[in-house]
Amino acid sequence: MDPERMVAAGVNTVRMAEFAWDCMEPKRGEFDFSLFDMTIERLGAAGIDTILCTPTAAPPRWLTQEHEEWMRVNSNGNRMTHGSRQHCCTNHPGFRAESERITEAMARHFASNPHVVGWQTDNELFCHIAECYCEACTERFRLWLRDKYRTIQALNCGWGARFWAQTYDAFDQILLPYHDRPTQPNPSHLMDYARFLSDAVCEFQRGQTKILSAAQPRWWLTHNGIFAHIDYWKFSEDLDFLGVDLYPGFVAHEAARYSWAALKCEETRAVSGTFIVPEQQAGAGGQRTFLHETPRPGQMRLWAWQTIAHGADGIFHFRWRTCRFGAEFYWNGILDHDNIPRRRYDEFAQEGAEISRIGSRILGTSLLVKAAVLSDFEQDEAHLTMQLGLPSPSHQRKLAYQELLERHLPIGIVNASDSFEGVDCLIIPSFVMMDEDLAARLRQFVENGGILFATARTATRDRNNHVISKTPPGLLSELFGITVEEFGKLSEDLLTLGDNIPAGAGYEILLPKSASVAARWNETSDSSPHPAPGQAAITLNRAGKGMAIYVGTYLSEENRAALIDVLLSHIPLIPLARASKLTEVTCRRGTNHRLIFALNHEPKETTITGLPVGMELLSGQTCDGTISLPGYGVAVIEPGNSFASQTE
Ligand code: GAL
Repeated sequence: MDPERMVAAGVNTVRMAEFAWDCMEPKRGEFDFSLFDMTIERLGAAGIDTILCTPTAAPPRWLTQEHEEWMRVNSNGNRMTHGSRQHCCTNHPGFRAESERITEAMARHFASNPHVVGWQTDNELFCHIAECYCEACTERFRLWLRDKYRTIQALNCGWGARFWAQTYDAFDQILLPYHDRPTQPNPSHLMDYARFLSDAVCEFQRGQTKILSAAQPRWWLTHNGIFAHIDYWKFSEDLDFLGVDLYPGFVAHEAARYSWAALKCEETRAVSGTFIVPEQQAGAGGQRTFLHETPRPGQMRLWAWQTIAHGADGIFHFRWRTCRFGAEFYWNGILDHDNIPRRRYDEFAQEGAEISRIGSRILGTSLLVKAAVLSDFEQDEAHLTMQLGLPSPSHQRKLAYQELLERHLPIGIVNASDSFEGVDCLIIPSFVMMDEDLAARLRQFVENGGILFATARTATRDRNNHVISKTPPGLLSELFGITVEEFGKLSEDLLTLGDNIPAGAGYEILLPKSASVAARWNETSDSSPHPAPGQAAITLNRAGKGMAIYVGTYLSEENRAALIDVLLSHIPLIPLARASKLTEVTCRRGTNHRLIFALNHEPKETTITGLPVGMELLSGQTCDGTISLPGYGVAVIEPGNSFASQTE
């Protein structure tokens, strides 16, 4: 009955086997793929393809009993025990060999199955825990350091190890950054550990992708992210595209759910270009200690369309039928425990029918991005090594992104390693680390006509995570035409800049060189003495055909609108439509056509104006530029030709 119901709902691909190691290999070396052979065959006969997952997030008990030393160890030195998932250390050479052995066995078995079209590696690597403090991790970390620094003297220098007498004589003396120290660890040690964690998990995945690609070149490879401590820019090099699992129900406030999901999609698109959603929320999710609010009727479909609006080319809902046992027996699927299709199935079938109908217009198009916020794994990790209670790059990225999103501009996230071509303005959310290469690319971006906008503490450290000896913003000083004379923190309500714009969590006093002053610091609100009043707080510097704007504070909830106004006053970006803040509007473009997606994230009806004239594809009605959407409604508008030039 399942395949027929799936086909009726428009399903063309399913994902399976991510935790089925004990089923496929009940005893070491005794493989039994019969359940999957039968299921894949039945689905295939109904016209449904399968993507398989390597089952390495759930190593079976016989394996963990054989090799207790492969279990993860926490920072207190305690070895974790069997009984949930992600319990084995992905850095242990023994477990890596096992991971490759089961991958090889599956790959060989399914290589000639015409219904298997792709693979997901493991499952949500690092979703529960990234760190492991086992001996194998210590060994591998030392090797990684040896490979990076070659000599222990170079490491000592790179870590500034003289501070607190941390000089090492040999790589074998180096420990993982355990938590049980009397006080703070060395930030360069932490930074390298973060890089190591990410490189090591990439290596673990590569062990699987190499086997899969060799076994069947037509298979596409993906993984379901996205979580902390993985540099997905590098991680995705071994994949055809990345996936992102989306459960907006985890976000407590309904109004914040849509921008959270939009940002997740963007972070995925920024590293992967096209992407898929291997797990999209299908109902309320429940685990031992919580139960999500029930998604309202229409919201599941809305969230699915939202991912497409951001560039997703495939969606799987998690899960098909709600499990009757195990740790997630209240994680609601499309079908309930009793297997009776109800309203969630109907909504799913509506989504399926719509995508089947207009999907071919969408495939091959990509998101239009004119204004972008930069993203970079290294910057977030560098912040974590020395947070100072100040806003992180990711926090500011969220604020900047949300501000632009609410204005319905064609925006996105761009990875700092990517090309900046086609983008008109770039926001650097306090990237503390800078190097010659990134500085040169930013300079070129501005000289070619781009508008660059940076917030406090940008370019103040080198790649060793050391504060630079030049006056900030060091390598970007010339581009912004300033030096930063002083940096500090003051209770946020004491300082304002320009036209009463509230300061963020810190202030910088800027000394213009070639830049002009766009805003100065005002007197403190209680008239107490302070060095900032009267000094430059925002500067503008023309360079080549573009402009570099420096803001000597952080973005905050209170100042984001005013600071982004400063940016937008220098760049004529045209909104895609006029709509309420909780309506999202995006544009995907192909070689010959554009699609405008309008998504109403509110329960009540809303009206959107300023849309292009064209055809609304879901209803088949013409759109005269204004559209009313019911609560949680979606529209996909294909404009007539006159619109194209506006979004070039
Ligand atoms: C994801 C995971 C799934 C399931 C789901 C609901 O993290 O990949 O296996 O656990 O969340 O919790």
